[in-house]
Amino acid sequence: MTQLTTLPEAWGRSHLPSKVVLAVTQKPESGYNLITLEWFTRTSIHPPMFAISIGHSRFSHDCLEAHRYFNLVFPSLEMKALLSLCGSASGRDTDKFETGKVASFPGKLHKLPILSEAVANFECELITQVRSGDHNIYVGEVKYSWLNEEKELFFYK
Ligand SMILES: Cc1cc2nc3c(=O)[nH]c(=O)nc-3n(C[C@H](O)[C@H](O)[C@H](O)COP(=O)(O)O)c2cc1C
Repeated sequence: MTQLTTLPEAWGRSHLPSKVVLAVTQKPESGYNLITLEWFTRTSIHPPMFAISIGHSRFSHDCLEAHRYFNLVFPSLEMKALLSLCGSASGRDTDKFETGKVASFPGKLHKLPILSEAVANFECELITQVRSGDHNIYVGEVKYSWLNEEKELFFYK
């Protein structure tokens, strides 16, 4: 029987399994940050675009306000521990690249790191943004795409 309930209860029972991604951003001063994201989607075919929703309290929000680029990373099975780290620690006090021993090389666009262990990396330039309650939706145009065909995609359960 369908019953009226709270959002957390209905959402908690209905959103998993889901795809999760990482977004790489550049810190306002120097270095790079990583955040685990469930709230993302493709929004345009021509030009190709992705939108990501970032809470105002996240360090990644400060990073995106300072540098208008992000790299959207589709993780492989081997990256489960990194997704936990990047979804719990803040870049304000943790260097997630160092703690997570992340293997990477410079991308082509803004030279943000490309994660070698990932299935896919999409280098994006921020085009527009909109406030959505306590989050900002950042829309980025994909400039370069990378694929590692040896890797299998991770799903969050
Ligand atoms: C599975 C999972 C999905 C998440 N999805 C989002 C999201 O879509 N947007 C968001 O702002 N935070 C999301 N978070 C929370 C951030 O990843 C978390 O607060 C992180 O520590 C923020 O890092 P930062 O302060 O370095 O930006 C998610 C966390 C987990 C574990």
